[in-house]
Amino acid sequence: MFITFEGLDGSGKTTQAELLAEALRAEGRDVVSTREPGGTPLGEEVRRLLLEGVEMSPWAEAALFAAARAELAQAVIAPALAAGREVVCDRYVDSSLAYQGIARGLGVDRVLMLNLNATEGLLPDLTFVVLVDPEVAAARSTGSDRIEREGLELQRKVDAAYRELASMFPNRITTVDGNRPPEVIAEEIRGRLRQLS
Ligand code: TYD
Repeated sequence: MFITFEGLDGSGKTTQAELLAEALRAEGRDVVSTREPGGTPLGEEVRRLLLEGVEMSPWAEAALFAAARAELAQAVIAPALAAGREVVCDRYVDSSLAYQGIARGLGVDRVLMLNLNATEGLLPDLTFVVLVDPEVAAARSTGSDRIEREGLELQRKVDAAYRELASMFPNRITTVDGNRPPEVIAEEIRGRLRQLS
């Protein structure tokens, strides 16, 4: 299975991705954990451009995220799935749909099209969106990359965007309430996976 985690910076999604990967490994499954942007040598270079580099226009941003994702899908995710391994990824296409498609206003359909081309149609089987209030997420967030520095207004738009995506793709996306202890959230996520397998 290909499982992705989404949410605001400071939502706790990275912790949940790690907890799920650990739990699956404890069950004896072979798990590849990866993250976006990054996860490949090219992706890490593109990540630097995106998060520490100069200002850029929204489509340049969307195209760079898609470039990093194309490389990750082709070099890491598709081969792992083909070898029968599980893949857990911290952020994937829904980040681009939420941040670039909705919050930046490029359009979900157009950003989805770009990403379907870039990944050759490789979408997750299941996506968990960890929801917390943008104020809470901002207070918890440790990083300050170029996108986070834009502040609370963008984070509020992204939060609304994730909720909208969850209603657009109800079969693939599950939202979880991130305002609870990590272990409680992790148990809910494992329960949902058990339901599906
Ligand atoms: P983030 O998950 O914060 O990386 P880390 O936690 O390792 O610092 O991702 C970096 C930023 O990039 C974050 O603000 C969200 C943004 N982003 C997009 O805008 N579009 C995308 O497609 C992706 C993958 C991330």
